[in-house]
Amino acid sequence: MRILVTGAAGQVGSEVVAELRRRSGEMVKGPGLDVVAAARSELDVSDRDAVLATVTALEPDLVIHPAAWTAVDACEEDPDRAFAVNALGTRHVAEACRLAGAHVAYVSTDYVFDGTATAPYREWDTPNPLSVYGASKLAGERELSPGATIVRTSWVCGRTGPNMVKTVLRLASSTPGALRFVDDQRGSPTVAHDLAAKLVELALARRSGIFHVTNQGETTWFEFARTVLAAAGLDPGRVEPIATMDLDPPRPAPRPKNSVLDNSVLRLSGIELLPEWRDSVAALVVELTR
Ligand SMILES: NC(=O)c1ccc[n+]([C@@H]2O[C@H](COP(=O)([O-])OP(=O)(O)OC[C@H]3O[C@@H](n4cnc5c(N)ncnc54)[C@H](OP(=O)(O)O)[C@@H]3O)[C@@H](O)[C@H]2O)c1
Repeated sequence: MRILVTGAAGQVGSEVVAELRRRSGEMVKGPGLDVVAAARSELDVSDRDAVLATVTALEPDLVIHPAAWTAVDACEEDPDRAFAVNALGTRHVAEACRLAGAHVAYVSTDYVFDGTATAPYREWDTPNPLSVYGASKLAGERELSPGATIVRTSWVCGRTGPNMVKTVLRLASSTPGALRFVDDQRGSPTVAHDLAAKLVELALARRSGIFHVTNQGETTWFEFARTVLAAAGLDPGRVEPIATMDLDPPRPAPRPKNSVLDNSVLRLSGIELLPEWRDSVAALVVELTR
């Protein structure tokens, strides 16, 4: 089985590649999985000719597609680039996979929702993105055939690339005194290798439709920062809560106040959920700080 991974140098893409290689190594029968990891420098998904040529030449059975322009605030300033990569790029991947007969698994986001709900969002709730990034990722979802796997996730942090765990640790070592984090945005932190394991499981099984996949439990960025400091053996009392409207400078992209994703489809299908976010984030902090 040949599997192409887009955005393979990103925090999710790199863990997807690692998970596929791990599974391949564990296979006792057959030739294992032939994993082709394509970073942006090797495959720019906004280039239709390149995507069609690569997929036609490789003839993959499966394409796992986490590639995206994920700079949420920068997307507000350059909507054309956001849509060229996240929406049109996904059209190219979908088109190439239809031609090659390959299954597609796409990674989407909690930012497709406006955050006005008072309960966690189910897969069947109506999206209404507040930001250009969210709108471009939703447009990407809509480029896919009904048979595709769509995994929506939230607040991702992992070993590779910048993320909020690394930001909290960096600020803790570089800033004297109080660290301020917002306590009026709620979500579910998700550790990249937990996400990658479930994404790979769903993609290999060619599960179709939308799946919300996050670590379990919910929090605010304030509580999250306290948890990161405590896991690093630092003083969580340094973290002070602020409101989003008090961020200085204000962020260009609006964020949903509530972006907790109910993992309804996993739950109702009897598929094992990801671990509690506190356990996975604490383990990641230990790994990053040892
Ligand atoms: N991070 C989160 O909190 C979060 C939350 C919900 C959903 N997601 C989704 O999860 C997926 C993975 O995100 P991530 O956190 O792993 O982000 P990431 O670390 O930024 O990874 C995205 C990767 O896509 C690559 N890329 C950008 N433009 C591309 C293009 N035109 N063609 C091919 N590759 C391109 C990037 O390469 P360069 O770095 O070289 O630009 C990067 O390696 C994305 O689809 C994102 O929308 C992320």
